Amino acid sequence: MSPFLLTRTLPEDTAGADLRADVLAGLTRTAKELPPKWFYDARGSELFEEITRLPDYYPTRAEREILIARAPDIAAATGARTLVELGSGSSEKTRHLLDALPALHSYVPVDVSESALTGAAEALLAERPGLHVHALIADFTRGLALPGSPGPRLVAFLGGTIGNLLPAERALFLRSVRALLEPGDALLLGTDLVKNEEVLVRAYDDATGVTAAFNKNVLNVLARELDADVDPADFDHVALWDPEREWIEMRLRARSALTVKIPELDLVVPFEEGEELRTEVSAKFRREGVRGELADAGLDLTEWWTDAAGRFALSLATVGP
Ligand code: AVJ
Repeated sequence: MSPFLLTRTLPEDTAGADLRADVLAGLTRTAKELPPKWFYDARGSELFEEITRLPDYYPTRAEREILIARAPDIAAATGARTLVELGSGSSEKTRHLLDALPALHSYVPVDVSESALTGAAEALLAERPGLHVHALIADFTRGLALPGSPGPRLVAFLGGTIGNLLPAERALFLRSVRALLEPGDALLLGTDLVKNEEVLVRAYDDATGVTAAFNKNVLNVLARELDADVDPADFDHVALWDPEREWIEMRLRARSALTVKIPELDLVVPFEEGEELRTEVSAKFRREGVRGELADAGLDLTEWWTDAAGRFALSLATVGP
């Protein structure tokens, strides 16, 4: 049997149907919005990798610092034989975890980006021959079925991606993760933390404009996948901090009055000058908030680790009594 399996948990065309449904719903609302998962075509995944290397974008480096420092603790606390990674992307940070888990039998990366999954699996298998890699192309916000593999299982959701879900979506998501876990299994959760507004906004509106290109890439996805008549150059990248909800919002702001046309959806979407389309929410957390959200899903926060500068946290949670 090949050490690398790739499973599409949904038929190939549901991504297209999902995109159409999201675009139809999101662009016909009063407050226009699109879900952030549509950033991540091959180009968007590349741009995101570039973001993680930007001096202004601290979360990736902060989380890596914690992983390097705590990988032995994570290994000792979990004894994981299967590592499931949700939103695995390039699996770059995962290496630190894999290296600390000598008993690991299976690695199950789950991502919406097939290109990211295959690239990551190739690189990993070159380093860890014998590791069973079973990649899943899946949208983990829609419920998950995991392949059979030995326990204990450690489900990792890194990068602060949980912050891209709205509070109600987070509650559903954490419950669905809880449903995957058996006693002895654990969740490793990465969360970016509330901090100084300038630092936060700079991370999402970097000096080099890579994040702006990443944000606008969703319009390229609409043009390619739906034949939308839309020009990314007609929009400005916007990043702002919402102090009440404690999240960053990315938006695309129309530089002038314009229309976006998507004939196959019978859609003509008018934008006023300055009108904004919300493309991402990136929530920032505090320890008690994370503890509470985990508890609501039936999970116990057992460890809370931050980087030395206190910018980012890794939480370890187990199945509650
Ligand atoms: C996918 C959660 C890692 O919200 O920080 C980076 C995506 N958006 N810059 C985040 C993102 C803009 C990112 N994560």
